[in-house]
Amino acid sequence: MTSLSKNALQILKERYLLKDRDGNIIETPQQLFRRVATCVASCEEEQKNVFEEQFYEILNNLLFLPNSPTLMNAGCRNGQLSACFVLPIADSLEAIFSTLKHAALIHQSGGGTGFNFSKLRPKNDFVSTTSGTSSGPVAFMKVYDAATEYVKQGGKRRGANMAILNVNHPDIEEFITSKSSKKAIKNFNISVGITDDFMKAVQQDLSWQLINPHTKKVAKVVKAKAIWQLIVNQAWRTGDPGLIFLSTINILNPTPKMGDIESTNPCGEVPLLNYESCNLGSVNLSKMILKKDLKFEIDWKKLTKTVQLGIRFLDNVITLNHYLLPQIKSITMANRKIGLGVMGWAELLILLEIPYASVEAVSLAEKIMQFIKNESYKASEKLARERGVFPEWKNSIYAPNLKLRNATCNSIAPTGTISVIADTSYSIEPLFAIAYDRIGILGNKRQTEINKLFIQKMKQLNVWNDKLKKTILNAGSIQSTRLVPQSIKSIFKTSLEIPWKYHLMHQQAFQKHTDNAVSKTINLCEDTTEEDISRIFMTAWKYKLKGITVYRHGSKINQVIQKCNLN
Ligand code: CDP
Repeated sequence: MTSLSKNALQILKERYLLKDRDGNIIETPQQLFRRVATCVASCEEEQKNVFEEQFYEILNNLLFLPNSPTLMNAGCRNGQLSACFVLPIADSLEAIFSTLKHAALIHQSGGGTGFNFSKLRPKNDFVSTTSGTSSGPVAFMKVYDAATEYVKQGGKRRGANMAILNVNHPDIEEFITSKSSKKAIKNFNISVGITDDFMKAVQQDLSWQLINPHTKKVAKVVKAKAIWQLIVNQAWRTGDPGLIFLSTINILNPTPKMGDIESTNPCGEVPLLNYESCNLGSVNLSKMILKKDLKFEIDWKKLTKTVQLGIRFLDNVITLNHYLLPQIKSITMANRKIGLGVMGWAELLILLEIPYASVEAVSLAEKIMQFIKNESYKASEKLARERGVFPEWKNSIYAPNLKLRNATCNSIAPTGTISVIADTSYSIEPLFAIAYDRIGILGNKRQTEINKLFIQKMKQLNVWNDKLKKTILNAGSIQSTRLVPQSIKSIFKTSLEIPWKYHLMHQQAFQKHTDNAVSKTINLCEDTTEEDISRIFMTAWKYKLKGITVYRHGSKINQVIQKCNLN
């Protein structure tokens, strides 16, 4: 078995290992992996023990990990195993508070919720039941935000939310600025729901109609560019809002006859219909390698095997899941959406000695994700032969030719915790820093760390010494020291040292072969301009990304990882 890192052990002890009523830990990490493997194999009709062993192997060797709720809750009574949900918000007080109750239950179980608030009538609109005026979407987002604050996920972390407001809603300006004040909404990612029509109106500098969803009348006419500029300015100032490209999402909706997709889960990697849920898992790419003639190369056989098992694992989770609401159960079982993705991409590139900021890395990203997608679909087809197609298959874009068990197979999640457990780099992100203070992983003390692959490389080259260590800890970067060879510098470039074009190209390369979506943050230096952000957003739309999030360094006070500065 692979030994777990100090951080992994710490996070497992704090949040994942089962505890008794007095708070004493009652399982080891190996017992956790066994609990998950036994539970997930329990619906196998034949060769249950064989699958249990295979699931255990990929978990225990950190080749694949499912999303946090599966690790926390599998094998427990009423175990809710999914990370992602979308809930509807209809335009009535009863509907708003009934969805809030459902969201609280989901958060309590470890899941995150996405909502599109666009059906709510705008602020100050007429309300017939009271003959008064309405509060509008942003006011209700604040109610949701406050409720989220006090419902901890499984008693372990606070719930994550996504709020979307469509770009033609009359309250769009208030929404765009809703995270900029001191009393801002805390527990939401916010994204503007963007259509192709809006993007064309921005390009051509046309006017844009804001439509009251209740009366369907035009409430206001503005310049599309004015809204665009406001979005860009706020994203430059605070990182919010992001954009969700609803037209692109719906062109690729696998079940269009079941209605339009209006929202994604909190981090954007899964567009879902109302009440749909999705469970995720990620292959650890940094372990998909073998050594040949003293160099690493990709172990395609190992990757195939891991993807096949990962897809089977996630399909089993749908069968075994405890669903909190009948509506969630019914649509989730009808489409059986799963999202197998990756983590450790940056570390794989380092092991292969390919710089992240290179065309070679981008084409490998496409190649590897296309391979994963093909293997995922093959595995889902095999499951369809064994267990049947997903119930809504006949109404899906796959009928009549491609018989699949799952309406979607792939998503690239942020892997915020599971990559720490697997001790690898987050998702498809480049390294954030070579040396850093990690704060807030458990909301407590700071700890200084130097990237393990970098230390290994320096030791191999016989140049690792105290002077180098000190220099790196002080600078947080290796780019300006002469103690590190140039060839090493380029493979260890960190997030802010990578031009935004390469961030976007990686996102595009992975998105091309991901049927759901890719969660990625385009990390930018502090001196990035508003024009740059405007260009990034425009390029993201042209690249047919499903969503885009930027973050300009220093524009939020609390960052989980900070560059190290020990001066
Ligand atoms: O690594 P882990 O499985 O914990 O989660 P992730 O990959 O960072 O996030 C995957 C999804 O889990 C997010 O898009 C959210 O839907 C959900 N999530 C949540 O509900 N609450 C959090 N605090 C973090 C993630």
